[in-house]
Amino acid sequence: MRGIPEILSGGGFVSGEEISRELGLTRAAVWKRIEALRAAGWDIESGGKRGYRLRAGDSLAPELWQPRLTTRWCGRGEVRFDREVTSTNLVCRELALRGAPAGSLSLCETQTAGRGRLGRSWISPPESGLWQSVLLRPALPPQSAPLITLTVALAMAEALRETTAIPVRIKWPNDLVCEGKKICGILLESAADPDRLEYVIAGVGLNVQPGAVPEELRGQAACVADFCSAPPRRELLCAYLAALERDVDTLEREGFAGLGSAYRGLSCTLGSAVRVSAGGLESFSGTAEDIDAEGALLVRCVDGSLRRLWAGDVSVRGVMGYV
Ligand code: BTN
Repeated sequence: MRGIPEILSGGGFVSGEEISRELGLTRAAVWKRIEALRAAGWDIESGGKRGYRLRAGDSLAPELWQPRLTTRWCGRGEVRFDREVTSTNLVCRELALRGAPAGSLSLCETQTAGRGRLGRSWISPPESGLWQSVLLRPALPPQSAPLITLTVALAMAEALRETTAIPVRIKWPNDLVCEGKKICGILLESAADPDRLEYVIAGVGLNVQPGAVPEELRGQAACVADFCSAPPRRELLCAYLAALERDVDTLEREGFAGLGSAYRGLSCTLGSAVRVSAGGLESFSGTAEDIDAEGALLVRCVDGSLRRLWAGDVSVRGVMGYV
């Protein structure tokens, strides 16, 4: 049975009579429940005869976005929404270890120990970003992990293209950038046995409002609202979960062949001059030519040789600036 926040999640007024009919409660009991919800922080407006309306603002409360979710499995299962967590990747790992199904999700307003790639931290201030991790259990071998990285980046880029007009591109393997500045980072953590991936945690941090980007990072990072009037975060979330489900299903069925042209079309790395550094051991320049079926980046070096690079092993910078 739906609760009152779900009944009001459409954004318009719903009469007290309609609510009492749906819940099988008297009008007085409905009013009592509305009062209790207000006391718990829900912003519910009374419109006299028109009934009640929920002012949802930019809330990420699952009651507000789950009724609109179009997926079969992604963003379903166990959904944890917390105001504050250490890291959604850690919460999601607990879900994985408890046997939660694929598509389970940890979502929060703020992380106190957000994790970035290469052991860095990820700053995650409240009400300004989409900080979330989805549990995946793809029927794929462990060698496919790099392809999942590309798939998650593609899904978020597609979701942003569907819901906003921002010129988002993918910097291989999985940063999303707009006009040369990073707006989204992705951190995958996985466990595998020799034959198959047991689980993959797809942690994604999307900067939505300016508060997400500390002043000192402004030179290289940006947020969605820098490029358009940002939709509510729950709309971005639903679009991302739908794209992720579609793309993970395609990857399982067809491998990267099914996603390659979409990924290449959104890539800002392919065709560009890049400088590659691998853990301080060596550094070389070349042109990013293609991505192969296993997700490796093919770089044509100045001496004409072709080198295959794996996500995680290297950091690729555009020779001209961040991209
Ligand atoms: C990067 O360094 O580019 C990756 C950043 C990934 C950040 C996200 S925010 C949600 C999830 N939880 C974390 O602790 N990290 C990821």
